[in-house]
Amino acid sequence: MTKLVHISDLHTGYAHFREDILLKTIEEINEMKPSAVIITGDLTDHGFYNEFVQAKKYIDMIEPQKIIVPGNHDARNIGDEVFEELFGERYSVLELKNEAIKIIGLDSSEPDLGHGKIGRLQKRFMEDELADANERGLFTIIALHHHIISIPHTGRERNTLSDAGDILLSLIQNNVNLVLSGHKHVPYAWKMNNTLFTTAGTVSSMKLRGNTHPSYNVIDIDNQYIEITLHNSDGTIVPLTPP
Ligand SMILES: [Fe+2]
Ligand SMILES: [Fe+2]
Repeated sequence: MTKLVHISDLHTGYAHFREDILLKTIEEINEMKPSAVIITGDLTDHGFYNEFVQAKKYIDMIEPQKIIVPGNHDARNIGDEVFEELFGERYSVLELKNEAIKIIGLDSSEPDLGHGKIGRLQKRFMEDELADANERGLFTIIALHHHIISIPHTGRERNTLSDAGDILLSLIQNNVNLVLSGHKHVPYAWKMNNTLFTTAGTVSSMKLRGNTHPSYNVIDIDNQYIEITLHNSDGTIVPLTPP
């Protein structure tokens, strides 16, 4: 059994950023000791340098190994360059050798734009990594900020990847096990063919829709079986299952 934690959309620097909730979450994660923590972007609200420094301070407190990708808010005001300076590559791979899991992080942000795109070069990178993982029989996880399939209860859809169709086809054809996104601040799960698509809410901001809470997702993987639980900041824990 492998335990992973997925957090997203910290939004440091925003008026409704809640440090107390983030610190409590970090404490819970460190107690849980997952094999890895996946952070899918919008670390900051405007991509400003001081916001990134603040985000890094918190992220450094998370003890397990991490894979981090930027979100659209991080790519504002040349924040994409600051991201590279403080966190390294905008897209990368984390392999959990003992667990036979490969996590591929993609940068779906575009400077100063709200919508996302993977693009042909990064798609090639993803497909090469997936081919290697499939050849070696690894469990595969894709992490990116923007969602690929529209999320219910999020109003007018305008922010899926502009190349969502091509990426979706590639993920399905490559039998990806799990796709993790953020962006809409609405936790959700879709299952398509053999691939589970999940989104995490905002972990530490009050940029919420309706009467919901900041939250994060805990992922338990047992062989090929995946169980996701939603941990709300009010202490409630519920399964995040596809309809
Ligand atoms: Fe966000
Ligand atoms: Fe976003």
